[in-house]
Amino acid sequence: MSVGLSNRRGYRGRVLTPVGSAGELRFFADGLLVVEHGRLVSVGPYAADAACGAILDLRPAVLLPGFVDTHLHFPQTRVIGSASGPLLEWLEQTVFPEEARFRDEAYARPVAAELVARLLAAGTTTSAIFSSSSELATSVLFEALDRSGLRAIAGLTLMDQACPDGVRVPADEALAACARLVERWHGHDGGRLGFAVTPRFALSCSRALMEGAARLASDHELLIQTHIAENAAEGEAVRALHPWGGDYLGIYEKTGLIGPRTVLAHAIHLSASEWDRVASLGASIAHCPDSNFFLGSGRMRLAEAWSRGVRVGLGSDVAAGRSFDLRRAMAHGYDNALAIGAAVTPAQLLTLATLGGATALGLGAETGSLEAGKAADFIAVSLPEYATTEGAILGQIAFGDSGRVERAFVRGERVFAALP
Ligand code: GUN
Ligand code: FE
Repeated sequence: MSVGLSNRRGYRGRVLTPVGSAGELRFFADGLLVVEHGRLVSVGPYAADAACGAILDLRPAVLLPGFVDTHLHFPQTRVIGSASGPLLEWLEQTVFPEEARFRDEAYARPVAAELVARLLAAGTTTSAIFSSSSELATSVLFEALDRSGLRAIAGLTLMDQACPDGVRVPADEALAACARLVERWHGHDGGRLGFAVTPRFALSCSRALMEGAARLASDHELLIQTHIAENAAEGEAVRALHPWGGDYLGIYEKTGLIGPRTVLAHAIHLSASEWDRVASLGASIAHCPDSNFFLGSGRMRLAEAWSRGVRVGLGSDVAAGRSFDLRRAMAHGYDNALAIGAAVTPAQLLTLATLGGATALGLGAETGSLEAGKAADFIAVSLPEYATTEGAILGQIAFGDSGRVERAFVRGERVFAALP
């Protein structure tokens, strides 16, 4: 294949990116991304004689890696803001009735388009998504993601007990549907889309379903995503239902669901022993602070994860989270940390929302930061001209609401442009 300059394209702007998992950032006040065949060839200060073809001048926008949302629910797109109580009551009153509607393709299809539009406008270029328990709705979701150009991992939500008939699917039926979806969608478009085995949580899954889910994941080397230790009442109910587990994590361990390809959402009420085992088994965490505030679930302790080397990303957890915008999750992540006297920095939060999330999903070599060799997954965010220093820009991004996502690119392809 020709490697002439015609294949190269430059993007000029203020460039801000994490470069490691510890919260170290790189900033170029006048920077240039050079992209070839969808990959970043170089990231550095602008130079007039840079070896690239056309340069798209996006100044004064800030170029960031696209956000990585490690946890959200497609069939909850339309029920953001439903304040119907803590987790179990909210599931019963708001979530299950809404998710039951997704058996109807005519309902699922427009919502899938809405979800994609919301992700794009929020600058989220990679996401890990729970679908509903319907195979049809999950196909509809994948089709919408395929058309959008976004990078995503999604799975049919497994639930075969302790939920209404409208969302319950027997284990064999659900696992057969997953196998068909894996065949159709896993690895689609050069790995842009992937299928995740998605047991909802231990309360809505029989032991046989969890074991079958683990086998499916291991057979196809799939990501596993689920919820853990979100709410105190949930934890009690889960342990009473599955006493053989020993503790919450033990249920997932004993059914084979925990390993380096497992993403656990929330992880608020874990014991020290559970944290040690999460670390030794190599699972990662989706930290969902906005959701944790909205449902009053409790305070996640990031230090428990970081001190053990556990990978962590940020999740919007729509619709317990009130926004698709991971900048809102960053702001709530800051408040969460302050509330427990263990402050985190804006740089750490930006890292969680990008490279941390990519790493948590096993995509850290491919996306999540602007570094040569990675896919050109980036966004251009307009910020007021008065934000000129790295610190001011970072503060505006993490905590302010003045920055608008102007464009988003995945593998160098423009997938979003804001209206003028
Ligand atoms: N636990 C089980 N299902 C859900 C869900 O849909 N949202 C949240 N936040 N927690 C859950
Ligand atoms: Fe969730």
